[in-house]
Amino acid sequence: MAQIKKIPGFAVLAPNERMPQLKSELQYRGLSKNIDLYDDLIWCKEKLPSYDLYWQQNMWIDLHLVHFTSIKDCADALRSFQRNWWPYLFCELSRGKYIQEALPHVSGRPLICGASLNQTNLGSFTLLDKNTALFSPLCTSQRPNGTWEFNEDKINPPSRAYLKLWEVFSRFSTKPQKGDYCLELGASPGGWTWVLRELGATVFAFDRSPLIEKLMRDPLVHFEKKDAFSVTPSDYPKAQWLFSDVICYPEKLYEYIDKHIFQNKNSSIKHAVCTIKLQGETDYTLVDRFRALPNSKVIHLTNNKHELTWIFGL
Ligand SMILES: C[S@@+](CC[C@H](N)C(=O)[O-])C[C@H]1O[C@@H](n2cnc3c(N)ncnc32)[C@H](O)[C@@H]1O
Repeated sequence: MAQIKKIPGFAVLAPNERMPQLKSELQYRGLSKNIDLYDDLIWCKEKLPSYDLYWQQNMWIDLHLVHFTSIKDCADALRSFQRNWWPYLFCELSRGKYIQEALPHVSGRPLICGASLNQTNLGSFTLLDKNTALFSPLCTSQRPNGTWEFNEDKINPPSRAYLKLWEVFSRFSTKPQKGDYCLELGASPGGWTWVLRELGATVFAFDRSPLIEKLMRDPLVHFEKKDAFSVTPSDYPKAQWLFSDVICYPEKLYEYIDKHIFQNKNSSIKHAVCTIKLQGETDYTLVDRFRALPNSKVIHLTNNKHELTWIFGL
């Protein structure tokens, strides 16, 4: 018979290759004193913070340990909490796979861009040794290990950056509608523009370099070759969406959005998705300022590398 006990703290899974950033964030937030490390998973024995971490791919927020003798014992213990589970395995890989197989099937297949999602609660578990599992029935992400993978279209989009936008629209179940007006800064070669046009939006795109020819010929893409930061959103009163993937210092982006969205009473921008491009160490004080803006979040997308995404109004 399995023995289950609730334990303090929370666990956080780092995005691929982003463990140094997650560790530095835990340190910055005073959460790194009492931790255990299991490859990309950190068990942090501190009180659960009231906010999400930037460098989290998934957070396990209701931790338990189970001591069990058989695979069935472990699967039954997990099932007594809920139906759906996904493993994060760093040891006892085959035993972990057998436990997964003894649980109800959960699809880990990549998503189809634009398809509606059936989001049900997904718990996570890992094996600490042959007879002990650490698990959480509640996690911040409903995707397997917090990853948002899509069936990739390798032919039509001009760049792989298009995956970032699909991830945002899927995660927040909101997207521009046909006929909406969008401003897009740093648009070349056009991955994001391509997504916005697929959705039927009209796009005002700005970059120092042109978009691919097909988008340049599109009557609903209005491209201007200019410095993105010279664009004044209030010159486009119909535009409710602002996108930016410009490579620039985060300070510059912050000043731009603060001036044009929050300080300008006439701003028509209701939603924004902007990449915060980072270099070297993350300046958490500055990223916290993005998050503190009204109606804002800062997250790491599966399709982000050393960058974070500021989301407004979604
Ligand atoms: C990461 S790429 C954008 C990729 C694009 N989102 C896509 O999906 O294809 C960044 C772009 O920012 C542009 N850029 C950087 N600084 C800029 C500036 N000050 N004004 C306009 N464009 C700028 C670069 O020319 C580059 O095309």
